[in-house]
Amino acid sequence: MTDRYCVFGNPIAHSRSPAIHAAFAAACGQDIAYAACLAAVDGFPQAVAEFCAAGGKGANVTVPFKEEAFRLSTRLSERAARAGAVNTLAFNGAEIFGDNTDGAGLVRDIAANLNCALAGQRILLLGAGGAARGALAPLLAGQPAELFIANRSADKAEALAAAFADIALPQGGLSAAVIGGGSFAQLAGKSFDLVINATSASLSGQALPLPPGLFAAGSLAYDMMYGKGETPFMAQARAQGAARCADGLGMLVEQAAEAFFVWRGVLPKTTAVLADLRRQLAA
Ligand code: ATR
Repeated sequence: MTDRYCVFGNPIAHSRSPAIHAAFAAACGQDIAYAACLAAVDGFPQAVAEFCAAGGKGANVTVPFKEEAFRLSTRLSERAARAGAVNTLAFNGAEIFGDNTDGAGLVRDIAANLNCALAGQRILLLGAGGAARGALAPLLAGQPAELFIANRSADKAEALAAAFADIALPQGGLSAAVIGGGSFAQLAGKSFDLVINATSASLSGQALPLPPGLFAAGSLAYDMMYGKGETPFMAQARAQGAARCADGLGMLVEQAAEAFFVWRGVLPKTTAVLADLRRQLAA
């Protein structure tokens, strides 16, 4: 019997996840069906229960339900527990297993697709909301020399850095040695090799207050957002001297590949799927 999966969100009609997972399944010879499911804003637990009762094996979760999925999970992966949010659910009897593949997807896109090794890098993470939080543990696992979180509300960046200060690093010691957080004003005089935008500033059409000299020679500016053409953050970063810019389309595909692995135990190849999506987006 075909195993059924879906993505829950609101809105969900324009989700690219069904097409991505259909392409993975075809390439890996896996017999799955994957649909987009609109859940009412106050009806997420009920929508999940109905999907489970109908034999659903797992689901992705997107805006605005990731925190609710975290609370609904009866067991969490360590990375989901750290992220405080769940984007991947797996149903097994009465168990609802919650995982978070967003940060791993981000890191894989940066390291594998964009050939930017994290080890020894000075990384700046812009924003201290859910998207930033989900990225922190996987970024720290990449052994950066520094990971600074800058946020409009500096207290949120400081609190986030403090919450991720106790992670044992692969190179030894605790993450307190490399992580910090504060305001945009604190960025004056500093420069970074990798600058990741995890704010939603561009949704309101606002530029970020980034000081001159922020982008080191050869630096990569990465926007978790994506769209047709260059995002506002990419344009700003390029104008301020970033050597390379990338949007978050690769993160979308890589987090999906990680979710596919959680469910099926097979990690799909992503190159062709990402190229296809890029073509569709540009059309
Ligand atoms: P998400 O789940 O996408 O991370 P979120 O949790 O609402 O969404 O977080 C949005 C992030 O974008 C926050 O870091 C927010 O900064 P504040 O904590 O100060 O609100 C940031 N953000 C949103 N609009 C912004 C703007 N115009 N300038 C700078 N940062 C902005």
